[in-house]
Amino acid sequence: MKVIVTENKIQGGAKAFEIFEKGIKDGAKTLGLATGSTPETLYQNWVKSDLNCENLTSINLDEYVGLTPDNPQSYHYFMQKHLFDKKPFKKTYVPDGMAKDVAAYCKQYDQIIKENPIDIQLLGIGRNGHIAFNEPGTPFDIGTHEVKLTKNTIKANSRFFDNEDEVPKSAICMGTANIMQSKKIVLMAFGEKKAHAVKEMIEGPITEDVPASILQKHPDVTVIVDKAAAQELDDKYKN
Ligand code: F6R
Repeated sequence: MKVIVTENKIQGGAKAFEIFEKGIKDGAKTLGLATGSTPETLYQNWVKSDLNCENLTSINLDEYVGLTPDNPQSYHYFMQKHLFDKKPFKKTYVPDGMAKDVAAYCKQYDQIIKENPIDIQLLGIGRNGHIAFNEPGTPFDIGTHEVKLTKNTIKANSRFFDNEDEVPKSAICMGTANIMQSKKIVLMAFGEKKAHAVKEMIEGPITEDVPASILQKHPDVTVIVDKAAAQELDDKYKN
């Protein structure tokens, strides 16, 4: 894993954008995208750039079950607001949180990913080491699935809602197997609350207890962390 330590999340977002921009100029056509606080500085750089996205396809990692695309807390809404409204893509996929038959829909989403192999996948990481909503204990070999959110994740995400009770209890999410099939992965993490998960992901054993640790097995992963998120890492990673 290549680790890049930046001063702060502003610089981290700029660095991540450089990687995406270069990848797209070099021919990447399908991007796996993420939501949450972490990618905001990347998307800020993206929308103010002159990068043309009209030939690109995007596939998002996850969506809450039960939220309509026009719900301001939905990941559909987030993506429209932070990127797609300002940078139109050829085609964008975000899981349908209103799907009636969630299990059948998950199979459909796997098919979408199969037909549009992901060239560059963007990831954030949860404080418990989750990637997408693959919580600790999720098998490494599964595709898109419905996941019950842990208490910790509900609590962490309640900052975007009026109160904890409003946070949906489950989500549709790409599996670790989908993520590992991407050609290139860029994971961003900022702030001291991510420091332990970052250390476990990079230096710890590969275990389903820390879903992000599977990334050690991927041949092309770049981790962009600010100094606070890098603080527990061995000195050799601090460039
Ligand atoms: C979002 C996602 C999540 C987040 C993670 C970190 O699409 O899949 O795994 O990347 O929960 O969230 P933030 O960035 O809000 O700290």
